[in-house]
Amino acid sequence: MAEPKIVIVYASRSGNTEKLAQAIAEGAKASGGVAVTLKRARDMKVQDAEADAFAFGSHSAFEYMAGELKNLFEEWYSIRSRLTGKPVLLFTTGKGGQVSALESIDKVVGVFNPTWVKPGIATEGAPGEADKAKAREMGKKLAEAAKKKSK
Ligand SMILES: Cc1cc2nc3c(=O)[nH]c(=O)nc-3n(C[C@H](O)[C@H](O)[C@H](O)COP(=O)(O)O)c2cc1C
Repeated sequence: MAEPKIVIVYASRSGNTEKLAQAIAEGAKASGGVAVTLKRARDMKVQDAEADAFAFGSHSAFEYMAGELKNLFEEWYSIRSRLTGKPVLLFTTGKGGQVSALESIDKVVGVFNPTWVKPGIATEGAPGEADKAKAREMGKKLAEAAKKKSK
């Protein structure tokens, strides 16, 4: 059987959130037996919804997720059943508004009825070593949930 596919989707202007996405990817890859792809929200295609598990992340923009991530969710609303039950992890960075941004993604993705991999990760500014360690740990949990689901 093919390895479960995990897509780590993110919006990032100056690289902080991208670094968090990379740490999640490292943790997921270290778990082994999964195919991990990192992708910007604006580069996502409809066929990417066929992946087995997802992480969605964004910088905080006016205390909310970035527009490109919200656009993706608007586009995927009509195919939302493809995400139902699939493991999903969320992550954000901000200058104080990272938790609000995380909550905004949580609310929207909740409409897709995923299987949550929690807690989500909300980091102030660029992720430090402790943040990256947490992100790797959660990436591993996401990979484990994806493998369990596709057994
Ligand atoms: C247009 C814009 C709006 C922002 N609004 C907020 C905000 O409301 N709250 C907050 O905490 N940070 C805000 N920030 C700061 C970023 O969320 C923060 O610096 C983040 O870590 C940047 O991530 P990135 O390097 O992945 O782009 C804003 C940044 C930009 C560019």
